[in-house]
Formats: sequence, C-alpha cells, structure tokens
Amino acid sequence: MRNWFGMLIIPFILLFSTNGIASSGHSERMPKKIGILLVAFGSSEASAQVSFDNIDRKVKEAYPDIPIRWAYTSNIIREKLAKQSKILDSPEVALARMQDEKFTHVAVQSLHTIAGSEYHDLRRSVGAFKMMGGFQKVILGYPLMATQEDMQRTVDAILTTIPKERKADEAVVLMGHGTHHPSNAFYAALMFQLQLKDPNIFVGTVEGYPEIDLIKELLLKKKIKKAYLLPFMSVAGDHAKNDMAGDEEDSWLSILTNAGINCVSVLKGTAEFVEFVDIWVDHVGGPLSHFK
Ligand code: CO
Repeated sequence: MRNWFGMLIIPFILLFSTNGIASSGHSERMPKKIGILLVAFGSSEASAQVSFDNIDRKVKEAYPDIPIRWAYTSNIIREKLAKQSKILDSPEVALARMQDEKFTHVAVQSLHTIAGSEYHDLRRSVGAFKMMGGFQKVILGYPLMATQEDMQRTVDAILTTIPKERKADEAVVLMGHGTHHPSNAFYAALMFQLQLKDPNIFVGTVEGYPEIDLIKELLLKKKIKKAYLLPFMSVAGDHAKNDMAGDEEDSWLSILTNAGINCVSVLKGTAEFVEFVDIWVDHVGGPLSHFK
C-alpha cells in the first residue's frame, strides 16, 4: 500500500529515538499533553480553504485548550500544494511530528464524509502508531456519517441548508464523491432517508453508485423541470467546479440541462455550513472522552 514508509518506518525510528520514551516504561514521567489532528482528503483549490478554516475555527471554539494540527491524506494534493510552497503533512508525518512534540494523547479526527478507503487507510496508520506505543493513547474519530444518529443529523443538516428559494416541485441533486469501497452504500441509504422527508431530493456520486444517468432518469420520470445541484463533499473543489458545474459535455450540469432540466449550481461544500461541521466537531469528543 502507499505510505508504508510513513506508516511504519517513521514511527519505528521515533520509537528508538529519545522521543519514543512513552513506550519504554518511562511514560509516567511524560506530562500529559493532549492534541487533535484533523485529517482531510485535502484540496488544491483556493475555494476549499473556506471549509478548512471553518472547521479549524469550530474545533478551536469547542476545545479551546487543545492544540490542533492538520494533515491531508492525498499525496497528489500535497505534491501540488508543495509546488506552491504550501507544505501539508500526511497523517503519518503529522503523527510523527506530534510524537516529537511530546504529545501523549492524540484524537485523530477524520474529516471525510463516509468511512471509505481514505478513512480505512487512516485507520491503519493510526493503528500502526498505536501498536508502536508512540503515544499513551491515539484514537480515531468517526467521519461525518458513521452511525444511524449521524445519518439522521446529516439528513437534518441537508434539509436546513438547501437553498431557501427552492420550491417543493423542484429537485435538489447532491453530488457525493462515491467509491469502490463497500461503504459506498451510504449514499443510496442517505437518499432513501432524505426522500422519506422530501421526495425530490436526490443523491448521486461521481465515482460510485448511484450514477448521474440513474438520477437523470428518476428526475425525468418525476417530470422535474428545475434542479439545484449541490456538492455533498466537505469542500467545493475540483469535482464541484468541473464534474458538477463545469461546461464540459459530461458535467452533471450539461447532462441534466441537455435532458431539459433547468439547473442551478450551488458551489458550497458541506464544511461551509455549521450544521455539518457540528457533526464532525462532536465526533472529536469521542476520542477525547477516553483521555480523562
Ligand atoms: Co475525487
């Protein structure tokens, strides 16, 4: 897998360096130092920074005494940013640095939407640090949608943040990322639960199921004339700008417009809304509750 170097070698080195003493029987001597590591997929789009700043501010408000660090899981995004002299750590490097900074308890918070591949890669990295004993405790928090309660809260967040001017006979089409990972089923499950409350809200994905062609068929069957397109991703980045709202023939905007549906794109990521951010912020409380 990718990142094996970061996952295994770095903690391995640190374990045998002076900073690895937490694992060598001297842990009692290390003063307790709690930290939060926020982990996002990342984005190289400047527009995405609004979402990250918003999350950062909300987490600081909720846990004012706890230092926060950031990491991006995407190698491609980190490489792109590095070319602009913006250095973002991978989760493995960020955790190694936190070990170096003598953190003893770390809450790693996933800012992903579902527990897909990225989340499970992160889980493995956190597990590796746990196994090496680099921290007294290192615990990973849930993504946006993990439990049934999260699903309910997400449904409520969507219902309260869709454009106010949208009328009941107009559709709302959310663009989820989608994945080959089994947790892709969350998107269709979300659509089911949304439609119990509002039958004209649809959830499609860019890279998984349901695909836009199916959503288009459903809209046509219901004789929908107008649709609001919204990203169901934390940031309004590349997918929202291009795959959803772009001019290309295969963008959702083009596909639905060509099918005779009048489309309005809303370029706002979920993390720009407090209703969604609150769910992630509350999830940080899970790991933190074990640090008392
Ligand atoms: Co993508």
